[in-house]
Amino acid sequence: SLPKQVKIVEVGPRDGLQNEKENVPAEIKIELVNRLTSAGFQNIEAAAFVSPKWVPQMATSADVMAAITRKPGVIYSALTPNMVGFEAALAARADEVVIFGSASEAFSQKNINCSIAESIARFEGVAKAAKEQGIRLRGSISCAFGCPYQGDVPLDAVADVVGRMRDLGCDEIDIADTIGVATPRKTQAVMERAIGEFRVDGLSGHFHDTYGQALANIYASLELGIAIYHSSVSGLGGCPYAKGATGNVATEDVLYMMQGLGIDTGIDLDIVVDAGQFISQFLNRKGASRAGNAIAAK
Ligand code: HMG
Ligand code: MG
Repeated sequence: SLPKQVKIVEVGPRDGLQNEKENVPAEIKIELVNRLTSAGFQNIEAAAFVSPKWVPQMATSADVMAAITRKPGVIYSALTPNMVGFEAALAARADEVVIFGSASEAFSQKNINCSIAESIARFEGVAKAAKEQGIRLRGSISCAFGCPYQGDVPLDAVADVVGRMRDLGCDEIDIADTIGVATPRKTQAVMERAIGEFRVDGLSGHFHDTYGQALANIYASLELGIAIYHSSVSGLGGCPYAKGATGNVATEDVLYMMQGLGIDTGIDLDIVVDAGQFISQFLNRKGASRAGNAIAAK
């Protein structure tokens, strides 16, 4: 049987917006996060303390974190690739820091400019500091299902990085399909290996929808008992280091599916649809959520 409840982590303000060419002002990001907070998410990825030379769109992260209206109990997460990022996240009162590695050597180099082994060594300091400060620690594993640079990613490589993230003390570990290439059986093969290394209730599925497979892959993961999923309002996004990859699976689509399956998320779909309309209008484009567009057209 499928989980009765799932946690949806809204990653639109970070993963969704990081790849936008046009600068999105902090006020817009703040308004977006506030709307998402009022929709009922327990966890919103709101910031990335990364090099502004590498990802200029995230340069306003401190301003965003300072001005959002925080709801008690909601976790506002920030990406932190190293101690510089961690110190900034700490100052910004992030509730959770995210160390982000990769199951693909090639992608690790392109994305964070170091090997997988070097990244784990860097993360040790961040993990230790997070524990000392009592901040939640999440580990994100890119290219767990395929890599834009090296193609196939062995299951053993995924299992290995999951084990390393576990040993660093991660509270939660994301298995990410950065370029959206997975299909349901492949998803289950990867997730089964992840479950072999980490508690199933701490694993999350982070699916991009490049090939239109994300909802099917979420369903396949639900069948294995995975109960945390990442999604992006209006299907915003893409990764600057994964050319051609589209956004995360759209939150509205995921919520619509969960409602139909009778799975509780605690999130108000109509407020998410409005938030999706808000950001799509700002970006001057039609939203990428099928459910969102259908509901908005009613
Ligand atoms: P580097 O150039 O190797 O780092 O970058 P460095 O330590 O040599 O530092 C170089 C310069 O960057 C220095 O400044 C540092 O101070 C500065 P300079 O002296 O030249 O003026 N610097 C920083 N500035 C701000 N914040 C920091 C920071 N660290 C160093 N934290 C680094 C290494 C990791 C920093 C760089 O490669 C980087 O920022 N990469 C960006 C990676 C990124 O944000 N990717 C997108 C997010 S990951 C993703 O989307 C995947 C995910 O969604 C899951 C999935 O779908 O797969 C999570
Ligand atoms: Mg992503």
